Amino acid sequence: MPESKAREPVKVPLVKEPFSVLQTLRTARRNVLEIIPDICTKQPMVSGKTAMVRWHMVMDPGALKRVLRDNLENYPKSDITKNLLRPAIGDSLFIAEGAHWRWQRRAAAPVFSHRNIAALAPIMSASAEAVCVRLEGQDEADMFEEMVAATFEVISNVTFSSEGEMAGDDVHQAIDRFIDQSARVSLMDIVGIPTWVPRPSRLFGGNPVADMKRVADAAIEKRKQVGAKGVPDLLDLLLEGVDPETKRQMNAAELRDNLLTFIVAGHETTALTLAWALYLCAFDPEVQEKLHEEAAAVLGGRIAGPEDIGKLPYTEQVIKETLRLYPPASFISRTAQAPDELCGREIRKKDTVMLPIYALQRNEQLWPEPDTFNPERFAKGAKYDRFAWLPFGDGPRVCIGGHFAMVEAQIILASLISRYKFEPVAGKDPLPEMVLTLRPKGGVNLRVAPRC
Ligand code: HEM
Repeated sequence: MPESKAREPVKVPLVKEPFSVLQTLRTARRNVLEIIPDICTKQPMVSGKTAMVRWHMVMDPGALKRVLRDNLENYPKSDITKNLLRPAIGDSLFIAEGAHWRWQRRAAAPVFSHRNIAALAPIMSASAEAVCVRLEGQDEADMFEEMVAATFEVISNVTFSSEGEMAGDDVHQAIDRFIDQSARVSLMDIVGIPTWVPRPSRLFGGNPVADMKRVADAAIEKRKQVGAKGVPDLLDLLLEGVDPETKRQMNAAELRDNLLTFIVAGHETTALTLAWALYLCAFDPEVQEKLHEEAAAVLGGRIAGPEDIGKLPYTEQVIKETLRLYPPASFISRTAQAPDELCGREIRKKDTVMLPIYALQRNEQLWPEPDTFNPERFAKGAKYDRFAWLPFGDGPRVCIGGHFAMVEAQIILASLISRYKFEPVAGKDPLPEMVLTLRPKGGVNLRVAPRC
């Protein structure tokens, strides 16, 4: 049982009374987490009906296992999610279903092997070093912005490494604009709120996506001709990818769509993990000191690298606890294809089945003192239900980049904490706001002091 801690870090006020349709839509536009009823943190399952759509929010680990693993075919991603993302990332791994998803997953799986990620880790170390340098001489910094910059550098260098160098900033700028546009997708779209509801921003289309596709196509064509140079990046690895069962390989458009998927899925999610982790370290100086001691002992002042992964268990615990309290993808939605039963409750064809990861990971029945920050929950030997902690999803569609993200987060967090001390700035606490991902509204403004 984790020891008790009185103070709680920032959280979203969840709804205590039933909302009208209009209120739901208004609130969802502001912060979709607020439409999650407070009882989702107390009950295993909550069902309702909004604008004729029957929905269920599922927090029961057994039922989640059924949705994500045992009866996966019955719960594909909602059509709206797919229609929305398709113009940007095609029928790639993130969106595809059935056989078209399976062969792509098999072809892409080796790309994310531990060995390949260790080989790419020096790119992560270089970006950790760059943040440390940028912080020199600063008393205060928005660490969310800093983490976005750091993970941007990583994702652009692991996707189109040599093109980045050769084409100067072109590739980076195209990626930047592309990410900016994809980040504007409203979560209302993902949840499946009808398309007639006005959206805060118009979705994909226009120049950034077309530009990015052009830049990516050109880079892929060039790479095919010139071949890999040095350590293979994600493009080289994906070019080599073959589905062992069908022997199918990705054509140019499929390669491009999957690389763009990695950029959208892997960039901001990791930046958020790091930004929230730093907020929590500033919030809890005791944890920060323990983290610093570990980083100082293992790194001895240098920047972390792939050789340190596995030697930073407390850093990993802090990241896991951060992902519990502030899961970047805090809401996943599926549409039932056929009748089923979850938690003894009837699921009808076309019902929306929501997996409110934020509420799940703060559910009182699953986590003692769920709103407190306590990395000991993830200490070696500590027990928790596997389906109660789902920041990367689970089952066959579990995040393919989970290990990549954990390695990147450990390298950057350990390096930063070994060199700097972070403290909160009074009156500048971030507010968790769900806009597709769980963002810290107002940034993560912290005081920064170098460690002597
Ligand atoms: C902390 C960072 C990350 C978090 C929290 C995260 C979270 C998730 C979640 C929850 C899913 C499952 C969605 C669902 O079932 O509906 C997912 C899928 C996916 N993620 Fe991540 N992700 C992260 C980093 C990454 C990275 C670094 C990459 C690639 C470089 C990546 C690529 C993908 C892809 C391609 C899928 C779709 C997999 C499939 O359906 O087969 N993610 N991610």
